[in-house]
Amino acid sequence: MSDRLGVVMNGVTGRMGYRQHLLRSVLAIRDEGGVELSDGSRVQLDPVLVGRSEAALRGIAERHGVERWSTDLGAALADQSVQVYFDAQLTSVRAKAVAAAIEAGKHVYVEKPATETVAETLELSRMADAAGVKHGVVHDKLFLPGLLKLRRLVEGGFFGRVLSVHGEFGYWVFEGDWQDAQRPSWNYRSEDGGGITIDMFCHWNYVLENLFGSVRAVTAKVVTHIPTRWDEHGEPYTATADDAAYGIFELDGDVIAQINSSWCVRVDRDELVQFQVDGTEGSAVAGLRGCRIQHRSMTPKPMWNPDLPVTEPFRRQWAEVPDNDDFENGFKAQWQQFVRHVVEDAPHPYDFRAGARGIALAEAGLRSSAEGRRVELAEIIR
Ligand SMILES: NC(=O)c1ccc[n+]([C@@H]2O[C@H](COP(=O)([O-])OP(=O)(O)OC[C@H]3O[C@@H](n4cnc5c(N)ncnc54)[C@H](O)[C@@H]3O)[C@@H](O)[C@H]2O)c1
Repeated sequence: MSDRLGVVMNGVTGRMGYRQHLLRSVLAIRDEGGVELSDGSRVQLDPVLVGRSEAALRGIAERHGVERWSTDLGAALADQSVQVYFDAQLTSVRAKAVAAAIEAGKHVYVEKPATETVAETLELSRMADAAGVKHGVVHDKLFLPGLLKLRRLVEGGFFGRVLSVHGEFGYWVFEGDWQDAQRPSWNYRSEDGGGITIDMFCHWNYVLENLFGSVRAVTAKVVTHIPTRWDEHGEPYTATADDAAYGIFELDGDVIAQINSSWCVRVDRDELVQFQVDGTEGSAVAGLRGCRIQHRSMTPKPMWNPDLPVTEPFRRQWAEVPDNDDFENGFKAQWQQFVRHVVEDAPHPYDFRAGARGIALAEAGLRSSAEGRRVELAEIIR
């Protein structure tokens, strides 16, 4: 294997493709001399930018010293110096490009959700296995400092038996009339692959299965709170996709997780996502970066008495978990893992089947809400 890895990057003009994957991951890795392998040697990344707009690609390439870019995906995939195809395009246009990359013999790494459906994602997984190429899906939340600290607590046995997980994700996304919306409008149109359930349940699936247990069943209420929004051109449009999803997830080990996901909520938390985990021996509250704990021995004994003012400073009774580590950007850390997986077959369990499980949870959540009932996850996907 050469000490360079050519990587076609499609969708680098987008929010995720540009900032998290190109700047914070691939170019950051390039600037530090490549990904270090187990024998101490390094493999350098050589990006080829691909997209629809020549002007936008040339601008990015010139700004960041990237030599190769193209508006012709087929030609980029035919290039023998390229081994990996990465895709952060709109979800709805991803499957076709990934199939072409697999047919061209490239390893494939993609944003989540891998595609719009479980069936399509499993088909790509089968195609990639048959072609002998590696496949991976972004699982960025697992690499966040707050969740790495949670994982450390789980692995160290801090919680005893985990009873429940309570997650709050969200913030107010402006409608776009009075102040510009801070997310692309396709997120609010189901015909363009939008919706908070498909967006967030694939994250929650891998967070839950990697930290606490696989999801066995889901009960969800999915709604569109804000029916009209304004797009990038200031034009009003009908929001056909869900903008809030309230879910109860039953996990292996009888852990109950409840997670609210909403773009229609104002933040009164320390971070935009927060998970409280309660176990027999202790509890933790983790965000993107921080994580606070309360051990059983430090647990106060409040008495319910509405006639008295609050008797204890509850939020001050928690201790901060120390970093004890240098945390990389989560997207970059996963890029390094995927590159090692490609080059030296190091473990990277976050493949298309894992991605399909996330989409299966989203599909089950949508079905639960539409039919007003609890939905069990199919065994084939678990
Ligand atoms: N991992 C995460 O936390 C996370 C967060 C946000 C989005 N995402 C995922 O990343 C992907 C991109 O999301 P984004 O927020 O960067 O979107 P975006 O709208 O900012 O970018 C979309 C990209 O796709 C390209 N594109 C290709 N064909 C297109 C078409 N027909 N119409 C419009 N754009 C087209 C655009 O040029 C652009 O480069 C989605 O799959 C989304 O689910 C992941």
